[in-house]
Amino acid sequence: MEISLKQGPVSKLKSACIIAAVFSGKNMGEFAAGLDRPSRQGLSRLTKRGDISGKLCEVLMVPNLTGIAAERVLLIGAGKHSGISPAEYVKLVRKAAATMKSAGLKNAVSTLTEVLVSERDDGWKVQQQVLAFEAMAYRFDEFKTITKSKAAQFSRLTIATASTDNDQIDAEIRVGQSLVNGLKLTKDLANTPANYCTPQHLADHAEELGKQFKSVTVKVVNEAGMEKLGMGALLSVSRGSEEPAKLIVIKHNGGATKAKPVVLVGKGVTFDSGGISLKPGAAMDEMKYDMCGAATVFGVLAAIAEANLPINVVGVIPATENLPDGKATKPGDIVTSMSGQTIEILNTDAEGRLILCDALTYSARFDPDVVVDIATLTGACIMALGHATSALMSNNDELAADLYAAGDRSGDRAWRLPLWDVYQQQIDSPFADMANVGGRPAGSITAACFLARYTKKYRWAHLDIAGTAWKSGAAKGATGRPVTLLVEYLRQRIAAGK
Ligand code: BES
Ligand code: MN
Ligand code: ZN
Repeated sequence: MEISLKQGPVSKLKSACIIAAVFSGKNMGEFAAGLDRPSRQGLSRLTKRGDISGKLCEVLMVPNLTGIAAERVLLIGAGKHSGISPAEYVKLVRKAAATMKSAGLKNAVSTLTEVLVSERDDGWKVQQQVLAFEAMAYRFDEFKTITKSKAAQFSRLTIATASTDNDQIDAEIRVGQSLVNGLKLTKDLANTPANYCTPQHLADHAEELGKQFKSVTVKVVNEAGMEKLGMGALLSVSRGSEEPAKLIVIKHNGGATKAKPVVLVGKGVTFDSGGISLKPGAAMDEMKYDMCGAATVFGVLAAIAEANLPINVVGVIPATENLPDGKATKPGDIVTSMSGQTIEILNTDAEGRLILCDALTYSARFDPDVVVDIATLTGACIMALGHATSALMSNNDELAADLYAAGDRSGDRAWRLPLWDVYQQQIDSPFADMANVGGRPAGSITAACFLARYTKKYRWAHLDIAGTAWKSGAAKGATGRPVTLLVEYLRQRIAAGK
C-alpha cells in the first residue's frame, strides 16, 4: 500500500473515493463543506434531509457527485465536533477502511485528520489512519493459483490535510510508509508455511535486507559456529530436525558509531511440534506462527532502515524447527547453555526459552543499552491476557514504562506482569541449575523468570506475544504485532535523545 500526502482542497483530486467527516447535528466538516460548494450543495442536501446525522461511524456513500473528480464521496459520522476520544477515533478510521473494503475500492483520499481527538496530535491521527488502512488492505495470496488478484486490492491511501506545512504530518507519512512495508514483511514471513519458511529461508531474507538497505549488515552463524560458542540450549532444540538451525544477526547502523544499540531478540521457531513432548493435533498448523518474534524483528529492522532512523539496532534471531526424531532431545536430558548454566529439559515443548537464553547471552557482546526479546512463548499468556494484549516483563522499571507507553500511544498494547523472585523457585531443578518448566501456575512469568537468569548484565524486557501475533479462525493470519509498538518505542527514544 502506497501512502501520500495532499495539502489543500480535494474536489479536483481523482480517486475512487474521498472520505469526509460529518459531525453530530448534521454538521459538515471543513472538507465536506469544501466539496459541497463545487457539487452545488450535493452533500448539504443529504445532511439536511437527515440521510446522515453525524453520529460516530454512521456512513453514507454518495456516488457520482457533479463537480467532484472523485468517483464517490463517503460521508462518515465523526461524533462531537469539539473532539472525540482516541478509542473513538480508532473506531472511526477502521469503519472508514472497512467501508472501502466492502465497496471493493482500490484507493481513497482520507480527510479524517481534521477530526479533533483529545490528547492526540496530527501525527498520531495520521499513524492511526495508516494502520487501519494497512490492516484492511493486507492480503496473503501467494499460494493461491485460482483467486489470486481477481478481486480489487486496496493499494493507495492519500492523506489530505488543510494545513500546508506540518512537520508532524510529514514525518508520520514518511515513517508510516516504512511501517506499512515493515508490517507487510512481518506478516508475509509469518504467514508463509513452515515447508517454505525454514531457518534457511529466514537467513536468506536477512541477506536480502542487507542488500536492500545501505545501513544494514547481516551475519548468519551456522550450527558449527553455535557449537564453538557453546550454545548447547539452542542446539538441543534443533537436534530433532533435518533443517539446520541458524543464528541470524541483522544490524541497522543509523546512529552515532559509539551509540550503544538496542538489541531485539526474536524467537524464530519456524515450526513447533513440541518435539518428543508432542503437542496435541488440534490447530497444530498454527505453530508455523512460532517464529512471529523473529518476523517482528525483521519488520522493525526493515521499517527503521527504510525510514533511516538515527539509531543503532541489532536484531538477533535464533531460528530452528522443534521436531521429534531419534536424535531429538528427551525429557530429563540436561544441557549446558552458552552462559555455562545447566538446564534440565523436563518438557521439550518449552523450547522457546531454550533458544532465547543462548541468543540473550550472545547479545551481551553488542554492549547493548537495552535488550528486548519478542516471543510467542507461552499458551499461559493467552489465558492471562487474551488476544488483545501482549505481556510485558522487565528487570528495569523505566524500560517497562517506556514500552508500555509506546504500546498505549500506538494502540499495539502490552501490559506488565511481575517478575518477582518468589516465582524463581518454580524452575529449580534437583539435578541441574534450573529446569525449563515451572508448572502450570503463572506459566508466562516462570518462562520469563527463566530468561531473567540470562539477562542480568543489561536492562532487559520480554514481550510474550503468544496471544497477539496471529488470529485463528475465519480471519486466520498474522497481525504484525508488535512491530508498531517497537517502532514507536524506538522513535520515542530518538525524540527523547536517549
Ligand atoms: N510456542 C509455544 C507457545 C504457544 C502455544 C504460543 C500456543 C501460542 C499458542 C511454546 O513453545 C510452548 O509450547 N509453550 C508451552 C510451555 C509449557 C510446556 C511450559 C505451553 O505454553 O504450553
Ligand atoms: Mn513449544
Ligand atoms: Zn514454541
